[in-house]
Amino acid sequence: MWANAPFLAQLQLFPVAASEQAGPIDSLFWFLTIVSAIMTLVIFVGVIAFAWKYQKRPGVKPTQIEGSTALELTWSIVPFLVMLIMFWWGAKIYFAAQNPPKDAMEVFVTGKQWMWKVQYPDGSREINALHVSVGQPVKLTMASEDVIHSFSIPAFRVRHDVVPGHYDNLWFTPTKPGRYHLFCTEYCGNQHAGMIGWVDVMEPREYANWASGGGGGGGLATQGQELFAQNGCSTCHLLDQQGRCPNLRGLYNKAVQLNDGRTITADDAYLRESILEPNAKIVAGFEPNIMPNFKGQLSEENVIQLIAYIKSLSPTTPASQQGSQQPPVVLAPAGKTTGAKAAPQVQQ
Ligand code: CUA
Repeated sequence: MWANAPFLAQLQLFPVAASEQAGPIDSLFWFLTIVSAIMTLVIFVGVIAFAWKYQKRPGVKPTQIEGSTALELTWSIVPFLVMLIMFWWGAKIYFAAQNPPKDAMEVFVTGKQWMWKVQYPDGSREINALHVSVGQPVKLTMASEDVIHSFSIPAFRVRHDVVPGHYDNLWFTPTKPGRYHLFCTEYCGNQHAGMIGWVDVMEPREYANWASGGGGGGGLATQGQELFAQNGCSTCHLLDQQGRCPNLRGLYNKAVQLNDGRTITADDAYLRESILEPNAKIVAGFEPNIMPNFKGQLSEENVIQLIAYIKSLSPTTPASQQGSQQPPVVLAPAGKTTGAKAAPQVQQ
């Protein structure tokens, strides 16, 4: 009767392997498990065998045993080499996991008690669901609206904490069409267990079909452009001339000099911080305290839309995320903003 229990039919030691990442990670897992099992066996058998061999016997006087250089070198060097293999193998997989391919499709995920909100570059959205295409690398940019969550798709062997206050990334390439569970794997409140959903991996043509049905409210960049106007950003961040705040055209992924002498890259993390807490990093030549804090005013989803808009103002952004085709204008260099005290213009 137990054999007929539905949960037993579903019980499997390993989740399905449905991504390019799964194979190498499973191999490393088995290597670690087998090496550990062998070491455990050698140690336990050794302990028992020696305990028996050298046990106290009546009438037998123990003889002192001196060390053996050969033996000591062997048990030091062999495990050291095995550890080096573990380190090299693990590091290789770890670095691959940190570096998504350039052609990866970007999808944005926001964790919120207790759901996963998903945004696609075309502006369509889903909750607790993710649709991806076989063979297409996907890079997730993840934010949390409240507490620490953890995004996990066991079939892809990926998992990453989603920590409030910054972006976390992970990437994978699905290899098998099908439906796979996605989980929150960090206890995040009383409905943590309900923070689950499905990943649908589709054949490329099927996916194209599905994707063409989405959208609606314009792409992410268009949604961002609307927010940009609604929140009055366009009164200071002028696009056709230098306003009181940095010109955002051509800014994305460029080096930016700050007024404390540091140079940073205008990536997603920097743009997010500069939207929510503008005074954290002031661009050289600009005044602090001009832009209001948007922390608590904008949701993470809004910030993602705004960043998509800023990206669309840079020509290097992939065509899929392009909102406009204007030529780039470089950020005003340091000290060139004295003339920027002019009355702000409203641009719509
Ligand atoms: Cu979110 Cu657990």
